[in-house]
Amino acid sequence: MKKFFFTFAVLVLTLGACTTQGNEGEKSTGTEGQDKGQAAIENIMSRTSIRKYKDQPVEQEKIDIMLKAAMAAPTAVNLQPWHFIVITDKETIGLLSGKQPTNAPLLIAVCGDTDKTTTPDGKMKLPDFWVEDVSAATENLLLAAHALGLGAVWTGVYPAMERVSEVANVLNCPQNIVPVVVVRVGYPDESPAPKDKFNEENISYDKFGGKKKLLLKSFKTRNLPKSGFLVFVFSLIRRGRCGTWLACRCLPG
Ligand SMILES: Cc1cc2nc3c(=O)[nH]c(=O)nc-3n(C[C@H](O)[C@H](O)[C@H](O)COP(=O)(O)O)c2cc1C
Repeated sequence: MKKFFFTFAVLVLTLGACTTQGNEGEKSTGTEGQDKGQAAIENIMSRTSIRKYKDQPVEQEKIDIMLKAAMAAPTAVNLQPWHFIVITDKETIGLLSGKQPTNAPLLIAVCGDTDKTTTPDGKMKLPDFWVEDVSAATENLLLAAHALGLGAVWTGVYPAMERVSEVANVLNCPQNIVPVVVVRVGYPDESPAPKDKFNEENISYDKFGGKKKLLLKSFKTRNLPKSGFLVFVFSLIRRGRCGTWLACRCLPG
C-alpha cells in the first residue's frame, strides 16, 4: 500500500510539474493571484478596532476609496439601500460622540435608506434586509481603512432607537435615512494586537452539532471506477490541489 502511494505521489508531482512548466505566463499569473488572495486574507485577519488617532486628517483620496469599498458590498436584490455621511467638522464630531468621546478626525455615518427597500418594479417590499446590507458595507469600509494604513472602529447606532434619533437629529437626516453605524476613522495612535476569535465550537457541519469533516478525507479510491479516479486526479492537477490531496491521503493525522 505504501509503495502504491509513493509511486502515485511521484506520478502526480511529475504531472503537476509538467503542467506548470508548460506555461510560464500562466504560472506567474497564478502566483500573483495567490499573493493577492493572501494579502486580502491577511488584511482581514490583522484588522482590529482602533480608538486613538493621530492629529492628522484623512486624505480625500482615501475617503473615496473607503466609500467605494463600502458600496462594493452585496445587498439584497442589489437595492443598495444606503447613504453615507462623511463628517470632518470638529463640532459635529463632538456632538456625535455621545457618551464615548473621540479624537477621530473623520466619522462616516453609514445609514440605511428605507425608501430603497422596494424592488424597481414596485412588486416586492423587502423585509429589513437593509440592516444587513448596511452592515456588510460597514465591514468593507473597516477593511479598506485598515488596508490604507488607517485605523477605524464601528460604533453602533441602530437598533438603539434613542441613539438613532440623536444621530439623525445632529445630521439632519430625513425620515427615510436611518443611521445604523458611525465609523470613526483616523491614523492610528495605538497598535493593539488583533484578537484571535476563531473557535471551532462555533461551527457545525451539515446540521447543528455536526462534526468536522476533513477536506477530501472521505474520498475512497477503492470505490471509484478507474475512469472516475483519473478524472478526479486530473481535476486536482488542473486546480493545483494535488499537494492538498496528497497531504490528506498520505500523511498521518
Ligand atoms: C454592532 C457593533 C457595535 C459596536 N459598538 C461599539 C461602540 O459603541 N464603541 C466601541 O468602542 N466599539 C464598538 N464596537 C466595536 C467592538 O467593540 C469590536 O469590534 C469588538 O470588541 C471586537 O474587536 P475588534 O474589532 O478589534 O476585532 C462595535 C462593534 C459592532 C459590530
